[in-house]
Amino acid sequence: MAFKAKIIGTGSYLPEKVLTNRDLEAMVETTDEWIVSRTGMKERRIAASGEFTSHMGAEAAKKALTDAKLEASEIDFILVATLTPDYIFPSTACLIQKEIGAAKAAGLDVQAACTGFLYALSLAKSLVESGTYKNILVVASEKLSSITDYKDRSTCVLFGDGAGACVISSEGKGLSIESVRLGCDGEQAELLLIPAGGCRKPASQESVDQREHYIKMAGNEVFKHAVRRMEMACKECLDAAGVKEEDIAWLIPHQANLRIIDAIAKRFHHLPPERIFKTVHKYGNTSASSCVIALDEMRKTQNVSHNEQVLLTAFGSGLTWGAALLKEDRA
Ligand code: ACO
Repeated sequence: MAFKAKIIGTGSYLPEKVLTNRDLEAMVETTDEWIVSRTGMKERRIAASGEFTSHMGAEAAKKALTDAKLEASEIDFILVATLTPDYIFPSTACLIQKEIGAAKAAGLDVQAACTGFLYALSLAKSLVESGTYKNILVVASEKLSSITDYKDRSTCVLFGDGAGACVISSEGKGLSIESVRLGCDGEQAELLLIPAGGCRKPASQESVDQREHYIKMAGNEVFKHAVRRMEMACKECLDAAGVKEEDIAWLIPHQANLRIIDAIAKRFHHLPPERIFKTVHKYGNTSASSCVIALDEMRKTQNVSHNEQVLLTAFGSGLTWGAALLKEDRA
């Protein structure tokens, strides 16, 4: 029997606290004008001090389960995409499994930086379509404020906290996962990383003094790779499915920078602006969570018609990149 993986429910969670460009002006030498013109960002959300990646992920997961009309006890497997896990180990998937009461589920974290959701989606598709599992919960959750250096103006304006989740199943109605393409290039690993805290440079007084537990990014270089790799991933994903660019009804690019989104959107010039779904102005870059938060908001606020196709694309540290083609299927 052939199985088809579908997204049958989505949810998202954004912390209450808002960090505006004006707030950042008081923290580093920057201006609202610079941030808006270079990134399109106006504000982002910041988790409370006692609110962690697992908590935000669990909140998004509960909403996705309600949307899918499933109980947590019906979930077979939990995949969590994050680069800000609560701990190095145990996995955040285990913490979310406990928090939502998914008694029979196994759990695994996926680390592909901002592309993590698409990597997890690809794994979930394979596990469902091979008949290994029926219901998989994919969560993306990030507390990027915990690894952001609020003394570094070149990075601290970019990142925000938040979580998104979806339930992927072989049964039910929703968005079928038609095709996923992924890639990575470790040659460029140094462009975007956290230098210390891993086994290469364990935490020490010196590493803390050097602020090496925070994100370091060669923004300009990363920018060029981001546009090129996401364009390539979109093309490969569409070619694999035999779909043309003009057949796409909705585009959800990674929300890293409005200028990157605009560059990718040029390939989809048939789409009106509201069909290139954006949250970058209000949430900033939430890394792995970015595409799935936008997907949830799109499903809840727009009317995605039967048979319409949605293209997601993401890019991040690694370097990693990917694209996924979804199709609304109400049959
Ligand atoms: N306020 C004011 N000036 C600033 C700020 C700031 N917040 N940040 C940098 N500048 C200055 C720089 O110091 C530089 O000044 P200089 O010319 O005197 O040296 C000038 O602005 C230009 O800096 P650039 O880095 O060249 O600016 P750019 O236009 O490239 O924008 C940005 C920087 C927004 C970071 C952009 O490069 C970008 O978005 N890069 C890609 C980010 C991305 O896609 N990341 C991938 C995913 S993230 C993940 O995986 C975790």
